[in-house]
Amino acid sequence: MQDLVQKIEAYRKEIEVFEVSTAQQLEEYRIKFLGTKGIVKAIFGEMKTVAPENKREAGQVLNEFKQFAEARYEEAKGSAISNEQPATEEEIDLTLPGDPIEIGARHPITLMRNRIVSIFQRLGFSVADGPEIEDDWHNFTALNLPENHPARDMQDTFYISQNPDWLLRTHTSNVQIREMQKGKLPIRIICPGRVYRNETISARSHCFFHQVEGLYIDENVSFADLKQTLYFFVQEMFGKDVKVRFRPSYFPFTEPSAEMDVSCFICGGKGCRICKHSGWVEILGCGMVHPNVLEACGIDAEKYTGFAFGMGIERPAMLLYDVTDIRLFSENDIRFLKQFKGAT
Ligand code: DAH
Repeated sequence: MQDLVQKIEAYRKEIEVFEVSTAQQLEEYRIKFLGTKGIVKAIFGEMKTVAPENKREAGQVLNEFKQFAEARYEEAKGSAISNEQPATEEEIDLTLPGDPIEIGARHPITLMRNRIVSIFQRLGFSVADGPEIEDDWHNFTALNLPENHPARDMQDTFYISQNPDWLLRTHTSNVQIREMQKGKLPIRIICPGRVYRNETISARSHCFFHQVEGLYIDENVSFADLKQTLYFFVQEMFGKDVKVRFRPSYFPFTEPSAEMDVSCFICGGKGCRICKHSGWVEILGCGMVHPNVLEACGIDAEKYTGFAFGMGIERPAMLLYDVTDIRLFSENDIRFLKQFKGAT
């Protein structure tokens, strides 16, 4: 027993002075003390030589030794690894060019949305947001589309099966309603967002896409304000030479309603594949907010008037970036997306 204690004492000293500052030394230590043929194991083997009455005490001494040897190893591990083959000065060449970091590209829909939004922001519009899962009232009824109104069929709607009153919004016009309900006037907002329609997916249409909605409500807002605002937008967006034309149209939530075309910004109006040789490209719907809509949201239609407009983002993006298939926008194909690096 005395022998064993002395031996262990000697090994403890050895462990204390064992150099373990590099990974290689640490491995040597592990093999020597903790390995399957190492000292700890061997010394445990000596238990059989200990007299039965001393076994208990010997077991304790051995266990303490084992823990000591292991603790030393664990403690040295962290620092030894970081010291592994320290680089010498000659090995670091600070003059080498850095590894290029690949930076991503903004998504073309984001680029287009930002362009549109920033133009209206300069006119004093602020950005508003609303839910994509909407109730029937905000998406239809409040927009002067009561139940069974035939114009509801203009937009094939995805309903939520658990609750037929819920749907995926078919347009961003729900945000108009939500803003008007807040009751803070005047309102001058621009609302970009994603919308959903149950349409067959093809190169030209998808079951989800993006729109930007605009709304301006105050006293004495007129159709002339609408025209001038949109005219400014078009010039900023497509250039000073671009012409606009308004065609009478119908939307339940505006009266009068119009659609706005711009002279084709690809061919300058001469006629090309993009404008189908008409010289014009349709880009948005607009009109004066219908009094029924104002009243539904608790706004006095005698005192206030307003204009609204809504445009898709995908279509102008396809024209501007020459993208021929709308599905490319949502496929996340890196070969497509990286072509927009550096684009604005
Ligand atoms: N909500 C219409 C659509 O999705 C677009 C639109 C037209 C919005 C005229 C408007 C508007 O605010 O005044 O087709």
